[in-house]
Amino acid sequence: PLAATGELVGSAAAARSAVVAFNVITLEHIEAVVAGAEAAGAPVLLQVSENAVRFRHGRLLPLARAATAAAEQAAVPVALHLDHVQSDDLLRQAADAGFSSVMYDAARLPYAENLAATRAAAEWAHARGLWIEAELGQVGGKDGKPPLDAHAPGARTDPGEAHAFVADSGVDALAVAIGNSHAMTERTAALDHDLVERLADALDVPLVLHGSSGVPDAELTAAVAGGLAKVNVGTALNIAMTDAIRAHLTAHPEAVDSRKYLGVGREAMAQEVERLIRVIGAPAAA
Ligand code: G3H
Ligand code: ZN
Repeated sequence: PLAATGELVGSAAAARSAVVAFNVITLEHIEAVVAGAEAAGAPVLLQVSENAVRFRHGRLLPLARAATAAAEQAAVPVALHLDHVQSDDLLRQAADAGFSSVMYDAARLPYAENLAATRAAAEWAHARGLWIEAELGQVGGKDGKPPLDAHAPGARTDPGEAHAFVADSGVDALAVAIGNSHAMTERTAALDHDLVERLADALDVPLVLHGSSGVPDAELTAAVAGGLAKVNVGTALNIAMTDAIRAHLTAHPEAVDSRKYLGVGREAMAQEVERLIRVIGAPAAA
């Protein structure tokens, strides 16, 4: 059934677990995420980024309606989240398109401007019953920028600043920079677990991990145990899909039926979804 992000993340946080939020670009991504979550028997988030909307010729509704229908028919709770929104126009489409939450991304701006823009977005979102996530610190690798500026001085989220940012903006969750970076194709990120602990102590809202595709399984498990309650995965699904399709087309150079290779790609994504949910979303050992 269609669920609300705030409830899924809230339950996960209370159980010291995490909900995995998968970025979806095509109908095959949507179907794979739902199938993988059903196989794992866990709730899941379907998230659509502003970049994905750009790829869909600037239109949110076709993907949103497909995601809503898939969520309604799913055997596990599925919520819809709008990811990395910079455009106020897109933000304003969220509720009508079936999303229960948004990530408003003004982290590229200096602190005071990030805070002012995020506070305005949070007021707007809360007036419409939307749960809102924002970002403080610099998670690299956005918009084709190099992925590995995660260790640059000043890139990481400062716990004192984060406390003030959440209190002053009123957001429901915070994406943090803890050694993570977007769009990594190798799982080599080393997270700063001491910083995770200090952030979890400083904040009373759930922490969100972006760029999780580059984070090894053991690091993901440790981060969730430390207080990360929403874990965003994008690139890992694209790797699974593209590798499977490439292998299929190489083995079948005569293939023309798109259902054959899209089906192979979808199945590879579903298996990766199930695997990641089992690594990330399993309740922490008592
Ligand atoms: O918001 C989306 C995520 O942060 C995805 O990052 O593609 O590096 O897994 P990733
Ligand atoms: Zn992200």
